[in-house]
Amino acid sequence: MKTYNLLVLCILSAALLSGCEAGLKRQAENLDSEIEKQIDEFLRKMTLEEKVGQMTQPGKHGEDGPSDIEDEVRKGKVGSFLNITDIKQRNHLQKIAVEQTRLGIPLIFAFDVIHGYRTIFPVPLAEATSWDIELIERTAEIAAKEARAAGIDWTFSPMIDIARDPRWGRIVEGAGEDPYLGSLIARAKVRGYQGNDYSDPERLAACLKHFAAYGAVQAGREYNTTEVSERVLRNVYLPPFKAGVKEGAATLMSGFNDLDGIPASGNSYILTDILRGEWGFDGFVVSDWRSVKQLIYHGQAKDEEAAGIIGASAGVDMEMVSRTYENLPRLVRQGKFPEEVIDQAVRRILRIKIRAGLFDNPYADEKLGASVMLHPEHLKIAREMVRSSMVLLKNKSNHLPLSKGVKSIALIGPLADSRKDMLGAWAGIGKETDVVTVLEGIEQTVGSDCAVHYAKGCDVLGDSKEDFAEAIEAAKQSEVVIMVMGESVKLNGEGHSRTSLDLPGVQRELIQEIYKTGKPVVVLLFTGRPLTINWVYENIPAILIAWHPGIQAGTGIADVIFGDYNPSGKLTVTFPRNVGQIPIYYNAKNTGRPPDANDRWTSKYIDVPWTPLIPFGYGLSYTVFEYSNLQIAKTKVVLDEPILIKVDVTNTGNRAGQEVVQLYIRDLVGSVTRPVKELKGFKKIFLNPGETKTVTFNLSQDNLKFYDRQMNFVVEPGEFKVWVGPNSAEGLESGFEIVE
Ligand code: NOJ
Repeated sequence: MKTYNLLVLCILSAALLSGCEAGLKRQAENLDSEIEKQIDEFLRKMTLEEKVGQMTQPGKHGEDGPSDIEDEVRKGKVGSFLNITDIKQRNHLQKIAVEQTRLGIPLIFAFDVIHGYRTIFPVPLAEATSWDIELIERTAEIAAKEARAAGIDWTFSPMIDIARDPRWGRIVEGAGEDPYLGSLIARAKVRGYQGNDYSDPERLAACLKHFAAYGAVQAGREYNTTEVSERVLRNVYLPPFKAGVKEGAATLMSGFNDLDGIPASGNSYILTDILRGEWGFDGFVVSDWRSVKQLIYHGQAKDEEAAGIIGASAGVDMEMVSRTYENLPRLVRQGKFPEEVIDQAVRRILRIKIRAGLFDNPYADEKLGASVMLHPEHLKIAREMVRSSMVLLKNKSNHLPLSKGVKSIALIGPLADSRKDMLGAWAGIGKETDVVTVLEGIEQTVGSDCAVHYAKGCDVLGDSKEDFAEAIEAAKQSEVVIMVMGESVKLNGEGHSRTSLDLPGVQRELIQEIYKTGKPVVVLLFTGRPLTINWVYENIPAILIAWHPGIQAGTGIADVIFGDYNPSGKLTVTFPRNVGQIPIYYNAKNTGRPPDANDRWTSKYIDVPWTPLIPFGYGLSYTVFEYSNLQIAKTKVVLDEPILIKVDVTNTGNRAGQEVVQLYIRDLVGSVTRPVKELKGFKKIFLNPGETKTVTFNLSQDNLKFYDRQMNFVVEPGEFKVWVGPNSAEGLESGFEIVE
């Protein structure tokens, strides 16, 4: 469509409002009538410009930013700001909004508080590998407390995009590839940020992003098109959003991506029909950065006026940075846009501002920050999260943990003494000076009796081997070598997609040279995504993934390396053998010709195995866990009856440790094809040496639902396989049948 007939759009938006009436009615039942009356009152008094002002979140400066911020606030042309981290400026602007505007409506201040505010925790992908839902909630809670003390009311987090393509740089910001785990983490983060009441001065309003399926960008290329069938959208990409809405998330952010031909920020099907109509969401949606204006570049709108109409009609209530909504008052006056759409958006925004307590307490306490930031308790939790999120990929002959009695260590690698790379992508105001480096953490732990020979060896990127010799010398002088390798912070995150997932630069060559010295080598891997590490995985005896662990990097890592903490992290993304295998994820379909090594005419490759290098759910411990005695209470269960599954797990090693016991199912026959495995439960348990625990899962049939041929969300009777084990590729097997 080359041009937009505004009249048609107006009719469409009116139809859209009535189309989701049922859903809105449902929401209305949960609304606080006092709040709604207060909003009615405002709406009666507000001019069209003031209404659209509430829908506007301008950039601070530069393109699309107002030339005079204060003047714009005074005129009621701004509803929210992002990225204002100077608390005095924040309060000053708020004072103008509250005391100098006609109606005194407070502003809401937003910031990307992604993995901590000042206390920077491990990146979200790392936090997910802890599989520790309570700890994840706790880090979000701390982030909220610190951010609120800095005058932030609203975080653009959690990022809950399911991602199956590690080329995509933003895989680092989410929980990985699994919708079940992703949903639990989405809920935990919303709880952590918001608590029961985000007007609490220690809580933040949350924002689920990026709605929807942004993680499915083709070829992992940032901002690329997404082509996702409705069934995959609903079964894979939407569940974390639905879960977050259920948990009471205040807001959502619409994505940059073109979703099946209709850009997410102009997509009424997801933003209105599903989000409001089906799920009863009563908060507001903010666009992503200029994503309404970008409807022009997508080719959905011919100009800014049309972009604003499409965005607002679709259900984007607040426009971030671009200013296309400024056209709306004129369009309403010309009879080309329904004022009700604007009123609806303003209602949702004011509702969240009221719920956030901004009318009662518009100002932030400027003295609070000093006592809250980097509080010792926050640092303790950060260290705990670093340890919990580390994944032990390999530990041949119990190479790790290292003895604290070791007399010399070579610490080699471009990340060993790096501060900024520990912080990870989207670390906001996080400071390098707060970081404990790996070198510092190790030196503090081993004390002066051990000589730590540090050598950078090479840069993260680049092809210089100039410093190899020094590193080889350091290795030769030492009993053991720790190589601190991987991605720098600049290699992942937004706008940082890669086509190669190999260790960057000459890092693999450096590892190979050090390996040739014959010294025992530990590789400590820093990354924001799965990497193709085949040679390292085959040859190096001990590999630990530390991701980008935040400010307590060195302390948490030293705890694990020297055995003060027994690692228990498990991957939440599949590690491919090479880029050609992507997308590769554990919950794939069987195909009509499932892979069979002995049959050429089956689904596989001729150059590499079809299996991943390392499967989803994988991670070792310094001890050994054995699974036995898998029992299913009833092998035939009627519809809606929960399924009771038990398994014994024994710690057969000689150290205490934690294990993430994972439950997978396969729905064998369906009206639509079902994945070969799906995670449906897990428990993180602690076992002393020799101890056995019986782990019980009470699997609800709600957890077995999927979108069937008619797109109904149902459980279909029939046979199911069950596996309980340490990862998605191993486990004890059994089954049950659901009968009508
Ligand atoms: C663009 C990113 O896509 C989004 O995640 C972020 O919240 C906004 N910028 C605001 O910084």
